Amino acid sequence: MVSRVIPVEPFDLVIFGATGDLARRKILPGLFRRFASGQMPEEARIIGAARSAMDTDSFRQIIRDALQEFMPSSAKTPDLVDTFLERLAYVTVDAMGSAGWEELAGLVRKDVVNAFYFSVAPSLFGALAERLHSFGIAHDNTRIVVEKPFGHDLKTAQALNNSLAAHFTEKQIYRIDHYLGKETVQNLMAIRFGNMLFEPLWNAQFVDHIQITVAETVGVGGRGSYYDQSGAMRDMVQNHLMQLLCLIAMEPPSRFEPDAVRDEKLKVIRALDSVEPHHIVRGQYDAAEGVASYREDVDNPRSRTESFIAMRCQVSNWRWAGTPFYLRTGKRLSARASEIAVVFKETPHSIFQEGDGVSEHRNILTIRLQPNEGIEMGVTIKEPGPGGMRLVDVPLDMTFADALGPDVEDVPDAYERLIMDVIRGNQTLFMRGDEVEAAWAWTDPLIDSWTARHDVPKLYDQNSSGPVDASALIQRDGRRWRDIRT
Ligand code: BG6
Repeated sequence: MVSRVIPVEPFDLVIFGATGDLARRKILPGLFRRFASGQMPEEARIIGAARSAMDTDSFRQIIRDALQEFMPSSAKTPDLVDTFLERLAYVTVDAMGSAGWEELAGLVRKDVVNAFYFSVAPSLFGALAERLHSFGIAHDNTRIVVEKPFGHDLKTAQALNNSLAAHFTEKQIYRIDHYLGKETVQNLMAIRFGNMLFEPLWNAQFVDHIQITVAETVGVGGRGSYYDQSGAMRDMVQNHLMQLLCLIAMEPPSRFEPDAVRDEKLKVIRALDSVEPHHIVRGQYDAAEGVASYREDVDNPRSRTESFIAMRCQVSNWRWAGTPFYLRTGKRLSARASEIAVVFKETPHSIFQEGDGVSEHRNILTIRLQPNEGIEMGVTIKEPGPGGMRLVDVPLDMTFADALGPDVEDVPDAYERLIMDVIRGNQTLFMRGDEVEAAWAWTDPLIDSWTARHDVPKLYDQNSSGPVDASALIQRDGRRWRDIRT
C-alpha cells in the first residue's frame, strides 16, 4: 500500500557534528533507510565533518556500529550496509578555525544538490555559515539545515537568525522541528484539508475544546545541564506543541506550499493570547523508590525548572474565540503517549431519555502521534441487540498499521522524511525564521513572569499524569483531561 519510491536528485550532504549523538542515532540510520528503500540515488554522497582527527575508514566503522546499535535490522542486510558506507567520506574540520575547510571545498561537487546539516551547538552556526562562504563552498542553491534549540529566547533566536541571514537567504535555511516530520502530523493536514467532513465543523461553534498531550516516560537522562536551563516550556512547548497547535488552528492555506502554509501558522502564533499565571501549572518529578528525582537527575538541589507543564491557551480570532486549547507535556509520566483530541460540543438537544446509556454525547476526534499512530473518531451509536434504544460511544478507529498493512513499518521516520525534503528543496515542513521568533515572543513573557514570581514547580509522582493542580486547571472549566495511556 506504500507508494513507489522515487529517487531524489543526486546530492552531497555534509553533516557537521557527524560523530555526535543525533547523527549516530537519527541522521545516519535515517539516511541508510532511505538508501535501502531506493530513495537515495547511487551518486549521492554523505560527507561527515567534525573536529576529531580520523580517516574515512574509521568514520565508516563508527557509522557501521551506530547502525548496529540504533537500527538492529540493518544487520540482516550486510551487503547493503557495505554499499551504503561506500558513499560516506570524512573530513576533519575546525569550525572556529581554518583547518580542513580547503579539503572540504575540494570534496563537495558543485554539479549536484549541496546540503549542509549543522548538527552542532547553535553557538557554532554563525562560524560555519561564514566559513562556507569564505572558503567558496556555498553558492546560491546551497541549503543549510539547523536543529533546535533555535535560541533560548527571542533575543538569542534573533541573533541566530541574523548570523545565518548574513550568509544565506531564508529559502536556503531549513529549520528542523522533527514533530513536523511525523507521519500523523502531516496526516492532520490531510484530514483537515482533504475531506469535506471536518472543516465546516472546525471552529468555536462546534468544537468545545482541544487537548494536546505529549507525555513521555523518560526523564532528562544525560541531558541534565541543557534541560535544566530550558525546562518543558522551552524544550517542548515553544516548538513541538506550538507547531501542533498551529496545524490544528490555522486557516486553510490556499496551496500546500511552503510560504502559504507557514503564513497561516504564523497568524495563529500571533493570535495567541498571553496566558494568565493561574492558567499555567508547572511540575517537577519527585523521587520514586530507587529512581532519582528531577533535581537529582540535573544535579541541582534548588532547581525551579519544570519537567511538566500544563496550560490553557486561547487563539483570539473569529474561528476560535471561546474554544480553549489545553496543552500539556511532561517527563516521567505514566505512558509515552502523544495525541491531539478535538472534543466537539454536545448535541444541542437530546431526543433520548436520561438513563438510555451515555449521558453526555460528544464526538471526539483523536489524532494519535505515538505510539499506534492513527486517527480515531468517537461516535455515539445504538447499543446492538434487544432492550430498546440504549446508546453507547464507540470509536471509529483507523490505526495506520491496521489500515495500511505491514508496509506502514517502512514509512520514513521524521528525520529521514525531513532530510529528503531538504534535498527536494521543499520547505513546507520547516520553520521559517519569523515563525520561530513569534513563538519566542509569546513564550518569553510567560517565563519572565514565573521567574519574577519565584514560582516553584509542584512536585508530582513519577509514573503519574502530572501534578494534581494540572487536573484542577481543566476541571475548573467543567472538563477533564483524557487518560494518558498507550
Ligand atoms: C526533543 C526534546 O526535541 O523531543 C526531548 O528535546 C524530547 O526532550 C523529544 O524527549 C521528544 O521527541 P519524540 O519524537 O520522542 O516525541
